[in-house]
Amino acid sequence: MFSKSLVVLAALATVLNAAATPAPAARPVTCAGGQKTTNEACCVLFPVLEDIQENLFGNDTCGDASHTALRVSFHDAIGFSMTNKSFGTGADGSIFLFGETELSYPANLGIADAFNLEAPFINAHPEISVADFIQFTAAVSLTKCPGVAQPTFMFGRVDAKSPAPIGTVPQPTDQIPIILARMADAGLSAEETVALIASHSIAGADDIDPDLMGLPFDSTPSTFDTQFFVETQLAGTVFPGSAGNAGEVMAPIKGELRLLSDQGFARDSATACFFQANVNNQQLMANNFKAAFAKMQSLGQNTAKMVDCSDVLPSVIPLPGAQAQAFFPSGTDQEDVEQACPTTAFPSLPVLPGPLETISNIVQDPATDGNCDDDGSGCVLSEFPKAAKRSASEL
Ligand code: HEM
Repeated sequence: MFSKSLVVLAALATVLNAAATPAPAARPVTCAGGQKTTNEACCVLFPVLEDIQENLFGNDTCGDASHTALRVSFHDAIGFSMTNKSFGTGADGSIFLFGETELSYPANLGIADAFNLEAPFINAHPEISVADFIQFTAAVSLTKCPGVAQPTFMFGRVDAKSPAPIGTVPQPTDQIPIILARMADAGLSAEETVALIASHSIAGADDIDPDLMGLPFDSTPSTFDTQFFVETQLAGTVFPGSAGNAGEVMAPIKGELRLLSDQGFARDSATACFFQANVNNQQLMANNFKAAFAKMQSLGQNTAKMVDCSDVLPSVIPLPGAQAQAFFPSGTDQEDVEQACPTTAFPSLPVLPGPLETISNIVQDPATDGNCDDDGSGCVLSEFPKAAKRSASEL
């Protein structure tokens, strides 16, 4: 009896001791391929990185493939609500795992491009979850775009068991209070929403004007600079193509497309000053985006169970100093600013010299064409072995 109690006490002491001792700090490890990282669990990402760098992005320098990979990370993550469990589990891969359902939602029009681009690689890498693949590829896409602050990457998302319902993704036709309410419901403030909209600095539209693809939202769609915030504040004068498309309003330069929602963010009293603060402030834009994007990438997931694998990401490309200077596109100037922030004047900027520009379309990546159609048909990860999906508890 006595000896039995001793054994129990000794066992209890061991447990208490273990609880009091902090977990050992992760030691830098050298992975099988020779790469170094601070956490062994991150080693699995290097072969994925190598594959997508070489074969998914290839020579993409913040072009269509990068834009496509970035947009889908938002559409997956925003399937989450702090108040309503039925909205989904956030950054959980549901957009692809349940592609035939989610890609048929009007707000996901064009996300089929991302499915076509990424599905072969997801099928080839069952060692990570679909959710992680989507967010990892988006973080890597950012490193293609000069001007981005070095992103972070948390690893260990758990895949969805069911699709997100219709209505979680904001639409360009939605009024700003509606968009902000949806974002707030997912845990993102108005300031964080504007920070995330910096992504439209490296973006364009393929499906707003039915006749034209790759219409950029600013004059520098392959650079994460503040031009998007300048140009969206200018009076609109021209459509890149036809008038009357839902979610589109006039832009200040030929070839550019302005979303109704972006026009709203720049002018609504809840967002106008946050929006204007980005103008010619590269550092603010880059840092705020980095923080909000990291938060967005883990929506609905248990970050306590995830591992920081930021050091797996390639280094970002700095923006050459001269390009960090914002400007009024030729043919526009201070007079064209539709001032909306009541407390701070719009910064004075130089006018780009030269003749009036027509902004070129973003060249479309052929890999975004495939079996997955805009209505969701064919958007099936047929070869992805579900049993091999990694869960956070295995890490
Ligand atoms: C919150 C309100 C938002 C609305 C209403 C909105 C709406 C849109 C629309 C309508 C397009 C054009 C799609 C097409 O026709 O091809 C687009 C493109 C894009 N959006 Fe957003 N967006 C929002 C937020 C975001 C966020 C938070 C991100 C990323 C963090 C993002 C990243 C992108 C990117 C990268 C593209 C370009 C995709 C490409 O060129 O393939 N957007 N967005």
